[in-house]
Amino acid sequence: MSASDHLIPVVVSNVVEVNPIIKRFEFRHVNGDELPAFSGGAHIVVEMLDDGTKRKNPYSLMSSPFERDQYAISVRRDDTGRGGSKFMHEQVQPGMQMKISAPVNLFALDLRARKHLMIAGGIGITPFIAQMAQADKLGVPFELHYAARSVSQAAYMDSLADRFGDHVSCYCDDQGEGIDLEMLLSNQPLGTHVYVCGPKGMIERVVETATNLGWPAAHVHFEHFLAPPVGEPFDVHLAKAGIDITVGAEQSLLEAVEASGTPINCMCRGGACGQCETVVVACDGDIMHNDHWLDEEQRASRQRIMPCVSRFRGKRLELDL
Ligand code: FES
Repeated sequence: MSASDHLIPVVVSNVVEVNPIIKRFEFRHVNGDELPAFSGGAHIVVEMLDDGTKRKNPYSLMSSPFERDQYAISVRRDDTGRGGSKFMHEQVQPGMQMKISAPVNLFALDLRARKHLMIAGGIGITPFIAQMAQADKLGVPFELHYAARSVSQAAYMDSLADRFGDHVSCYCDDQGEGIDLEMLLSNQPLGTHVYVCGPKGMIERVVETATNLGWPAAHVHFEHFLAPPVGEPFDVHLAKAGIDITVGAEQSLLEAVEASGTPINCMCRGGACGQCETVVVACDGDIMHNDHWLDEEQRASRQRIMPCVSRFRGKRLELDL
């Protein structure tokens, strides 16, 4: 069982085109009830019924944790992906009823920190919007450094600068601007925690720079924004259930297992939380590990798979499900 097994019926209360590639979606409970409490950095899973295909994609909540009459998320359109973001951009309209999971937080502020240093790249800004609302209300020192490729792709830069003033610094690649990580991470008071969300390369650079400068690992927090990749369809045998399933090209293995009615744990649906880790009973072929959970040794053993993001190519894959 997982958070996304207990879905909340919501109505889409607003859809806002933020820029040509990003839309913001706002949800209210169908009964007008308060939505569950959450803290900055939490995500929800949005269920999409797309022409017979059921998809469940995770999105960070960007609304204030102190306002529970509605949730807001932002979705960046990705035409090379599985179709979830395309569905959100093309099909979802105000007034439509959908289902979402209760929030889960894998990227929470560490409340022991004396200061929160937030580093965002692109659509990775969304969890920080909720975190800043939280830090601001609690009166905890924080600052955000937000980088985007271009002014036209930078979502919410103006409104964040208006709302949080000197707490926010923005950088656009096309203006020749960039974050000087070495300088930024060298000049922080003791007890500062750093948080980064954005493209893989940015996360790696922040973690590496912090590590080289001697930051304790427990003070460095990151969230990859992950989407299950598309790929060739493949067949899987579920040993306990005694059934064979086929994973479609635009479906994740997790979604195919769920569609078969076979129980499986999950939380992030993005290869980060470890909840869906599954024992491989037999493998004659290659597992494409796309997660951030298994280490190199576990991957090489071919005895574990993370069905939310990983795929298979070969003759036979049998799982302990
Ligand atoms: S559900 Fe979190 S790693 Fe798969």
